[in-house]
Amino acid sequence: MPVISFLSAVLFLSLLPPCWGGLPLVINTWSFKDATTTAWKTLNSGGSILDALERGCAQCQSEQCDGSVGYGGSPDEKGETTLDAMIMNGDTMEVGAVGDLRRIKDAIGVARAVMERTKHTLLVGESASIFAENMGFAAEDLTTNKSLDMFTKWLNGNCQPNYRQNVSPDPLTSCGPYKPSAVLQQRRSVQHIDIHAHDTIGMIVINQTGNVAAGTSTNGAKHKVPGRVGDSPIAGAGAYADSAVGGAAATGDGDVMMRFLPSYLAVELMRTGTDPTTACQTAIKRIKQHFPHFFGAVICANTTGGYGAACNKVPGFSSFPFMVYNLQSTDPVQRAVDCI
Ligand SMILES: *[C@@H]1O[C@H](CO)[C@@H](O)[C@H](O)[C@H]1NC(C)=O
Ligand SMILES: *[C@@H]1O[C@H](CO)[C@@H](O)[C@H](O)[C@H]1NC(C)=O
Ligand SMILES: *[C@@H]1O[C@H](CO)[C@@H](O)[C@H](O)[C@H]1NC(C)=O
Repeated sequence: MPVISFLSAVLFLSLLPPCWGGLPLVINTWSFKDATTTAWKTLNSGGSILDALERGCAQCQSEQCDGSVGYGGSPDEKGETTLDAMIMNGDTMEVGAVGDLRRIKDAIGVARAVMERTKHTLLVGESASIFAENMGFAAEDLTTNKSLDMFTKWLNGNCQPNYRQNVSPDPLTSCGPYKPSAVLQQRRSVQHIDIHAHDTIGMIVINQTGNVAAGTSTNGAKHKVPGRVGDSPIAGAGAYADSAVGGAAATGDGDVMMRFLPSYLAVELMRTGTDPTTACQTAIKRIKQHFPHFFGAVICANTTGGYGAACNKVPGFSSFPFMVYNLQSTDPVQRAVDCI
């Protein structure tokens, strides 16, 4: 290569921001490395962005990433594991999602079936499970010895922690059954941050031509009230994709985060020219204004391959790991951001 073009190539590369590596790009929350690899390989062996997204998240589901994705984790108040997932196609703005899915392990697969085999966006609960069974997904018990053990310990520990407030008997001392209490009081609950009670795989896949898919899969919050659906299957909250702009995905305290549609906000900011890191930070700051101690993080990526992440700093959570796979390396790379 002529020296001059070599030098200009070096100059060009050194001018690029650190969080840039071109397309294609796979990025996902946490250090869920095998999911990243599976998505990348799917894309590079001719799979579509949706195939890559689905298989990447499915990898985490079968590995039970962190115990918070897939079967056998986060038993609810009755001891049952239920799943939330969504997939979004940024080309067509189609979304498929499931909430409170019972008995079916492959939540992201069912989400895709909702997108491709119905005109609906979100199916929930027992009816979603029946839909899944009709579509050929196997019905299995999602309980494992581990989730049973977690549940038993929780029962023996007086059902602590739990998500009840303004009920009698007092949720801090009793397991219920609960009824509404006469007087609404300020929430008494001790601030309890268990960062592994809320982990979700959120993933963004962008192929070489800049087409974007985003999605999530999780088993939700440990000891949740049965019927609880978090942010993960809500478009704009758990994830969002628009092939004209990029994508975003969130993880953390979904009950709080879903009220702010952080993934939608981040994508809209990128649409107006904000870089991915700043877009993620602004989405986190918006929530922080109202809930200074919420636990959560957002990842963002744009259609030129720029990416970033942000998280809210709380005791026990000062930096957030995420995985990136692009042409810069032959393996997925774990990155981390300091929380703000
Ligand atoms: C679960 O526990 C039962 C007995 O309590 C045992 O027979 C079984 O092998 C355990 N399963 C696994 C996967 O460890
Ligand atoms: C990227 O995905 C779109 C569909 O979402 C497809 O039409 C296009 O061919 C893909 N590009 C590459 C380079 O595979
Ligand atoms: C995407 O993000 C990168 C990294 O911040 C930035 O340099 C680039 O300009 C962004 N692309 C677009 C189209 O905004």
